Parts: sequence; structure tokens; C-alpha cells
Amino acid sequence: MAPHPPLLELSGITKRFGGLRALDDVDFVIYPGEVVALVGENGAGKSTLIKVITGIYPPDGGRMWLRGEPAEIRSRSDSQALGIEVLYQDLSLVGVMNAAQNVFLGKELTKRYLGLFDLLDNERMRIEAEKILLEQLGMDFKGRWEPIFQMSGGQRQAIALARAIYAKASLVILDEPMASLGVEEIERTMTIIRRLRDANVGVIVISHNLEHVFQVADRIVVLRRGAKVGDAPKGEISPEEAIALMVGRLEEKIVSPTPAPTAERRTARGEENVHGDGATDKG
Ligand SMILES: Nc1ncnc2c1ncn2[C@@H]1O[C@H](COP(=O)(O)OP(=O)(O)OP(=O)(O)O)[C@@H](O)[C@H]1O
Ligand SMILES: [Mg+2]
Repeated sequence: MAPHPPLLELSGITKRFGGLRALDDVDFVIYPGEVVALVGENGAGKSTLIKVITGIYPPDGGRMWLRGEPAEIRSRSDSQALGIEVLYQDLSLVGVMNAAQNVFLGKELTKRYLGLFDLLDNERMRIEAEKILLEQLGMDFKGRWEPIFQMSGGQRQAIALARAIYAKASLVILDEPMASLGVEEIERTMTIIRRLRDANVGVIVISHNLEHVFQVADRIVVLRRGAKVGDAPKGEISPEEAIALMVGRLEEKIVSPTPAPTAERRTARGEENVHGDGATDKG
């Protein structure tokens, strides 16, 4: 049904911390231009899954593909190079710098001075940052060139998103982006998520607020104790069902057409074991 390879596909991802299975044989797929909400109780494994995708934790088992190609993501710089950006609300912005400086942090634009040495091209960075903030994010609040520490959580988030846009991210992950925002800022965040989707970016949103989740996501994925127990387009799952899945009152609801496992994937999952009883996955 899907026209092109998924943006990102995970198959049989397992992550253990000592005796605890934080992720247990998780399959996950996201297409370009899709917003997937990742929900689950505290400790369900949501952040761990994000850390596997971003290369912070190596998985103990399973495989990943990016646009159909096997992906080796072993560090944050690997995932960044593949166009994966993660945004935590207040993280990774520098308070004393302004929006333009933050958008270009680590990838500053320079100009040649007297043909001898490079100087920061503040003017061009300001113009480029303004383009993204105004035209793409509709962010025209007063004081956007003040230091970041004077800004609200939502304004900071817009700047972090501008960074992701400038980096031409193909997958943007937001871990609890709306946790401490006001009503207007939540609206703006949802608008930004929709704009990223319209620009064909894949967006994974983690949130405990099912109302927000059901407003913005195309598909809902539910984790419970490290296992994926729910995966359905928004129209085919209700908030009540999502909660039932989260707490275990409903065993499982997997609706999305997960691509059939290819031979390579079966091998990756240790399913060459013809008995297929999971015996290859000893702890
Ligand atoms: N570095 C770690 N070392 C040991 N255990 C960990 C580590 N990180 C996570 N865990 C455990 O793995 C499980 C999943 O944690 P994770 O942070 O992924 O949950 P979460 O779904 O993001 O929860 P929350 O909604 O509270 O953020 C939890 O039981 C947690 O205690
Ligand atoms: Mg978490």
C-alpha cells in the first residue's frame, strides 16, 4: 500500500538493562510525511526506543533500515548525519545567545575577511534564521532577537525546530514537547508539527497527553513494558483503547500494515530457528 520505502524501519529491536527488557522485539515503521505518536505508561520504553533510533543506546538485537537501506546508527553523530533530529523542550539551546546564533550553533556561516581569515557572518545568519522563523514557523513575536533565556518554552522550541529545519532533518523526534507549555504555545507546536509533515518530514511525538496526541498524529503506537502492543491509524483506535492498551486491559491492537518480513529481516531477528519459538533470544 505504501508508495515508497519507509523513512525508518525497525525490526525486532531488543534492549536490556541487566535483567530488565526495556525493549522487547519491537517493530516500528514511519513513512516520510507521517506523524507517529509514541505513547505508554512511565517506564514503558518510549525514551529508550528514541535513544536506540538516535544511536545513544546500541540495541541488543534487531535491525534498522533508513529509506530501505540497512542503517548502522551507533552514535548521535551517526543519526545526525542521517538527518535525525531530537528535540527536548529546553535542551541544547544556549541561553545567552539569540535565535539566529542558536539556529546556526555548530554550523555557523562565515565570510572571508580581506581574503585572509574567516569571520562569522552574523548578518547572513540573521537573515537565514529570520526566513525560517518567519516564513516556515510563523514566529513573529517581539524580542525574537533577544537572548534565548528571556524566551518562553514554546518560543525556544520554535528555535530548536528552526535548527532542525536548517539541518534539513528528515526525521524529527519530540520527547514530551508540550509538557509545560501554555495553550497558545501548544497550538503553535502542533502547527509546526503539521508543517514538518507537509514538508514530508517524518515526526515522532512522545506525549502523555492523549488529547494532543489524537489531534496531531496520523498513527498511534503504544508501548507496554517494552513491547509494542498497539499500532493503528488514528481513525482506527480510540483514546479509550489507547489507555486500555497502555495499562494492559486490552492485550493488543496492531492494525498498521507492517511490511512482511523479508528473508533478510527474518535472519536479523534470529528467525532462522525453524521452531520459531523465540529460543534464539536467550537473555
Ligand atoms: N540507562 C538505564 N539503565 C537502566 N535502566 C534503564 C535505563 N534507561 C531506562 N531504563 C529502564 O528502562 C525502562 C524504560 O525506560 P524509558 O525511559 O524508556 O521509559 P519511558 O517510556 O520513556 O518512561 P517515561 O514516560 O517515564 O519517560 C524503565 O524501566 C527504566 O527504568
Ligand atoms: Mg521517557
